[in-house]
Amino acid sequence: MIIYLIGMPGCGKSKTARYLKEHRDYKIIDLDEYIEETTKKTIESLIKEGEINFRLAEHKALEEITNNYKDVIVSCGGGIITFPSNNEVMKKGLTVFLNASLELIKEHISSSSNPRPLLKKKTVEQIYNERINLYYEFADVVIDYIDYITAADEIEKIMKRKKILVINGPNLNMLGLRDANHYGVLTLDKINEIVASDKSLNFEFFQSNWEGAIVDKIQEYKNYDGLIINPAAYTHTSVAIHDALEIVDIPKVEVHLSKVDEREEYRKVNFIRDVVDVCFQGEKEQSYVKAVEYLKNKLNVL
Ligand code: DQA
Repeated sequence: MIIYLIGMPGCGKSKTARYLKEHRDYKIIDLDEYIEETTKKTIESLIKEGEINFRLAEHKALEEITNNYKDVIVSCGGGIITFPSNNEVMKKGLTVFLNASLELIKEHISSSSNPRPLLKKKTVEQIYNERINLYYEFADVVIDYIDYITAADEIEKIMKRKKILVINGPNLNMLGLRDANHYGVLTLDKINEIVASDKSLNFEFFQSNWEGAIVDKIQEYKNYDGLIINPAAYTHTSVAIHDALEIVDIPKVEVHLSKVDEREEYRKVNFIRDVVDVCFQGEKEQSYVKAVEYLKNKLNVL
């Protein structure tokens, strides 16, 4: 699970992250430090070259970390929310907004030795008013910040949520363009968003058009507490996916948007059904929502 910590400069992100690292043993990456290490330049000098330069370096760093790390808390710079495409990258994890009051932020800033280049140009109020809505837009979870220990406790609870792997097979990346009668009108991203809106679980999403890639992903099942899989056309052909699922010993749910059991004869052939716990089908995106409900019951998640 990747958690991105966002919030105003001085909201308590670094302190919370440091506490999680030193007292709770979480892997923490400070995005600014990562940028300085990888670009071999200081943040100040990058900003001097032009803010857009810095934002591009920040975006690149965010992408690299997202693609290369799994269980990590990324403490982001306060301005991360001013570059809209960062939001796309951060959808791959969970964005936690540390929402401190303006009074508390001012107090933290006045007692800190950290040089904050932006504050030479604008007041804290100005920055706060410009950004507050953006923080809410980016956030999956908002923590009202009181102190770093309480915030760390909340973040730890999130890290400890049960993990669900959602696998989607071939052509499901084309949802939105496929036959709406069977598959509905939503894109896969939208469906994933609906699934991920249940904040009592952590989700990881994987889609591939390749049978072997799906088998490889299923074989990672030991990293998860539950599995939702829509093998799409491979449902009706794949002995390999059947065999991979057979050894999975976490709750596993087959899902289909359409009612495969009542469609063409070749779709009634099913290589998956006897190696999953249950199947939800024919309810478009709601089939996924039902799968989530099933797993919550099974895993005793309230
Ligand atoms: C599907 C049904 C399959 O028969 C089809 O090949 C798909 C999607 C569904 O979700 O309804 O691609 O799995």
